[in-house]
Amino acid sequence: MGLLADIEQVRAEFDRRLDAVRIRTAGQDADVETVEQLGVAFLGRKGKLAALFTRLGALPTEERPDAGRQLNQVKEYFQTAIEAVEEKVGSEKPAEEPHLDLTLPGDPIPLGTIHPVTRIEKQIKDIFLRLGFSVFYGPEVETEFYNFGALNFQKDHPARDMQDTFYIDEDLLLRTHTSNNQIHAMQTMKPPLRIIMPGRVYRNEAISARSYCTFHQIEGLAVDRNTSMAELKGTLQYFARELYGPDTRTRFRPSYFPFTEPSAEMDIYWGLETETDYRVTKGTGWLEILGCGMVHPNVLRAVDVDPFEWTGYAFGMGLERMAMLMWGIGDIRYFYEGDLRFLRQF
Ligand code: DAH
Repeated sequence: MGLLADIEQVRAEFDRRLDAVRIRTAGQDADVETVEQLGVAFLGRKGKLAALFTRLGALPTEERPDAGRQLNQVKEYFQTAIEAVEEKVGSEKPAEEPHLDLTLPGDPIPLGTIHPVTRIEKQIKDIFLRLGFSVFYGPEVETEFYNFGALNFQKDHPARDMQDTFYIDEDLLLRTHTSNNQIHAMQTMKPPLRIIMPGRVYRNEAISARSYCTFHQIEGLAVDRNTSMAELKGTLQYFARELYGPDTRTRFRPSYFPFTEPSAEMDIYWGLETETDYRVTKGTGWLEILGCGMVHPNVLRAVDVDPFEWTGYAFGMGLERMAMLMWGIGDIRYFYEGDLRFLRQF
């Protein structure tokens, strides 16, 4: 047999066995030799290539260089092929058997909680939706006109003062209350209407346990042909009992707002049992929860609603305040600090 033909044969055999090794690395067939064994069999000191190399010397001189070159090529080919498989085996080494116990309980997924302001907003909305009100939203960045002018604030009203209002420029400001929405609503919809308007408001006040630079309000507005102070009182009394329980006592005190006439504030009876009751109610047992009144004719005129044909009532309440009462929260800053120990209680 000629050496060149034998080289070809060894090479063909190598290819066959290499394929088997490749399949084994993928399929874990234990009967087939490993890539190390293949290396020893073909490239080892007593391997098939070594045997062929020793036969070089027996060749006629003129045939030797060619046969030598061929042998070296095959050797290189074997080496690269084996290295490639070795690399693959190395990277595919199966990780240790995973410990799979299907009876173990799953990993708990931590759930967030509903923010107390969001919660009380929803409760209040639900009560008014049952009464036939719908929900309306307006902008937080507002002009003087919507926040003050159209609401019958005179030019020199102290609430327009820079100390209470965050001004953006001469005319633009962050709304200080949700009453701005009364104007937007009446420009958008024709009476009769009954709506509530939740939203965030901003005030340039010193931050303390009782006041913060931003908070939330729900505004209410009803405009119809025959609204009355009696309807206003009945609606708000019903609301207070739905929210704080059927035995809740309410009272109305005269008050002043530029956009309502007459104006009132509604208190609920909080009780006078503990020292805290004395402190938060200033010794009266009563707590103010909202401002309200009959819509001032000038407000209706500002949106081209005829005050001789239509009357309205409005009310506005602070959500943080309501939530503090509901859950006995002592400091308004808790709502804005994002402390999970606080938030997780809701
Ligand atoms: N806008 C008032 C405030 O921020 C609250 C208020 C009072 C709203 C009387 C009203 C109202 O709609 O009729 O303090």
